[in-house]
Amino acid sequence: MREFPLTLSQFIIQSQAAYPGATGEFSSLLTQIGLVGKLIAQDLRRAGLINILGATGDTNVQGETVKKLDMIANDDFVRVFQSSGYVCALASEEMEKPVFLPGNWPRGKYMLLFDPLDGSSNTDNNMPLGAIFSVLKYDRTDRLPTEADLIRRGTEQVAAGYLLYGSSTMLVYTVGQGVYGFTLEPGIGEYLLSHERIKIPDKGKVYATNEGNYSKWSEGTKKYLDSLKVNDKATGRPYSGRYSGCLVADVHRLLLGGGIYLYPGEVDKPEGKLRLLYEANPMAWIVEQAGGKASAGTSRILEVEAKKLHQRVPLFIGSRHDVEQAETYIQGRA
Ligand code: AHG
Ligand code: MN
Ligand code: MN
Repeated sequence: MREFPLTLSQFIIQSQAAYPGATGEFSSLLTQIGLVGKLIAQDLRRAGLINILGATGDTNVQGETVKKLDMIANDDFVRVFQSSGYVCALASEEMEKPVFLPGNWPRGKYMLLFDPLDGSSNTDNNMPLGAIFSVLKYDRTDRLPTEADLIRRGTEQVAAGYLLYGSSTMLVYTVGQGVYGFTLEPGIGEYLLSHERIKIPDKGKVYATNEGNYSKWSEGTKKYLDSLKVNDKATGRPYSGRYSGCLVADVHRLLLGGGIYLYPGEVDKPEGKLRLLYEANPMAWIVEQAGGKASAGTSRILEVEAKKLHQRVPLFIGSRHDVEQAETYIQGRA
């Protein structure tokens, strides 16, 4: 018989067999993420032809320029999940307040937090983009969820993943049993298992950061970056610099080849740029599940206390050795 990789749905059904109590609701939720990915990928492929590039003229709750594609991607997530019956709350980078599904609406026990389009400064020049999602479970039956129920530590995630719109479209996720990657086969419109149990190398030789911000960084961060450029064959230096402006794409490269991504805090903006709940937490769990590390500089990302929906956090993420090395500099131990 002809060998054929498992489809996303087949893989999920097989993995679910290991959980006798599973209702299948969660599997269907991941399939819906896949659907959102297909919708967005389809728009991105034709973006230059159908007048959906450029900005809307608005700024979002983060004070950042909103691209037309940010809104399109956000609407795709909301539309698909509002009618899926699998979630009771949705929170997004592009929405100041979460959407709560009314009591008389088909609802499920999951809450989805997402960055609908990651790296959106890349939209207008055909560079990689992504989407990031984090899934939490809402167990209470005595009342509907509120915003406070969405603000939890990363350790409470039940699933996390990303969609990558690169030269191919991929869905990568974890439920805490390793990291699996699926590539969209456009001919049949299915995600096929292409990357089984992804393992990040313990040490890499690539760094990804917006080095244009160097003068705004702390002395520790500057010294760490300087250290990567030293010419020392024995320790594999200098590292190569690679930065796409899309966290998903940069972390995906590191997952497969090793190294470190950093978006540090700045002297005048110690909280950094990236958002904890729907960027740092899901990416951190994936990288940890692949054997790597994710740190805010002084603590593990997944243990950072979440206080606000759109909270920002410094991020150092990638190969275990590289992140530990960065921490020694940030903490003034090197
Ligand atoms: P988003 O497009 O969702 O706002 O995220 C952009 C993030 C991340 O993907 C990327 O690594 C970083 O911000 C780029 O920021 P700079 O342009 O400051 O380098
Ligand atoms: Mn983002
Ligand atoms: Mn975004």
